[in-house]
Amino acid sequence: MRPSVSAKPRILIVDDESAVLASLQRMLQPHSADWEVRFSANAAEALASMATQPVDVVLADLRMPGMSGAQLLIEVAQRYPDTVRIAFSEPTDQELVLKCVNTTHQFLAKPCDAGTLGAALGRALNVDKLVCNDQLKSLVAQLRTIPSLPDVFHELQRQLALPDASVELVGQTIARDPAMTAKLLKLVNSAFFGLNRKVSSPADAALLLGLETIRMLVLWAHVFSADSSPPVPGFSLDTLSVHSMSVGRLARDIVAMERGNAKMRETAMTAGLLHDLGKLVIAVNYPDLMTETIALAQRDNLAFDVAERQIFGTDHAEVGAYLLGLWGLPLELVEVVGFHHRPSLCASETFSALTAVHVADVLQRESEPLHAVPAELDEDYLATLQLSGRVAEWRNELMVSGPGMKR
Ligand SMILES: [Fe+2]
Ligand SMILES: [Fe+2]
Repeated sequence: MRPSVSAKPRILIVDDESAVLASLQRMLQPHSADWEVRFSANAAEALASMATQPVDVVLADLRMPGMSGAQLLIEVAQRYPDTVRIAFSEPTDQELVLKCVNTTHQFLAKPCDAGTLGAALGRALNVDKLVCNDQLKSLVAQLRTIPSLPDVFHELQRQLALPDASVELVGQTIARDPAMTAKLLKLVNSAFFGLNRKVSSPADAALLLGLETIRMLVLWAHVFSADSSPPVPGFSLDTLSVHSMSVGRLARDIVAMERGNAKMRETAMTAGLLHDLGKLVIAVNYPDLMTETIALAQRDNLAFDVAERQIFGTDHAEVGAYLLGLWGLPLELVEVVGFHHRPSLCASETFSALTAVHVADVLQRESEPLHAVPAELDEDYLATLQLSGRVAEWRNELMVSGPGMKR
């Protein structure tokens, strides 16, 4: 069990070099009133320390004699699944970092300054504070995998094997799959790569990481996995991916109609692709809960997110936002994902990518016969933005020829 919410958050830092530990200790000194920080010189000591008293966050050096930090983080993931795991490594250790993408929440490169270290730890603890739902935390922390569409995965493998592979085409292929896009953005936005800006588009992420890194991720780090749909009646990975792509494109086109800039169009496109990632996470990792939710929604004619909250105390929007927040994706993406069904809960009161994704999701679902209960527009929110009248125009302009036809 993790420590109670009211206790001071506990952080454990593991590194075999005493000079590194001493320097981290100095950097964290200003936080001593808020955080309880413990230090261990090796993996065995760290596990013994956690057995005595669990921690909220573990930051581990990936290369250590005896049990490596990479192995330690896997061990922590198994024994204490709801502990946030941060990898700490030399910039030259890219291969090792890539291998840890599935078991690690964040990455830090050595040496790191006090600001970067504080920000990484703060983010790990803050997403916890934002979401006070313990069920959600343990649900997300324990998830094992987020699969990709087999067709897209195999197409990516094929492209990467070409001697003249094109990073643009590779980026476009990744942008067809929510899971791959999320993982690529997780990596490129991590402190490990030290970029001074947040990256929101899979095309930019592919360009920045380069073909060699993406080859490593796909071919031997097994960061992306192709999988068939989870065994949930009424749920299909294919259908969800097509829906997500369509919402992304439609949201981008709504932003274009409202003369939003290129950055907003890009955010709307990616956020649309990622908006239902939480559904995928739940269906794959908790197929029984998803099956129950689908049955309840159909039986009682409930909106899907209402049924989700009845079954497991949270919904796919929160699950997706929590996960992406933990991974360090740009805040504007996290917000759109988190509020896509109820944008009025978000503080923003001007037209944004959130508006576009919310409306695009509802319009797209009108054209999909799968949904027993139609999604509802957040009318109060649209009225506040004085956009209630625009929805019909977006529908007429962009949906007339059927989804995807005008785009
Ligand atoms: Fe949704
Ligand atoms: Fe959706």
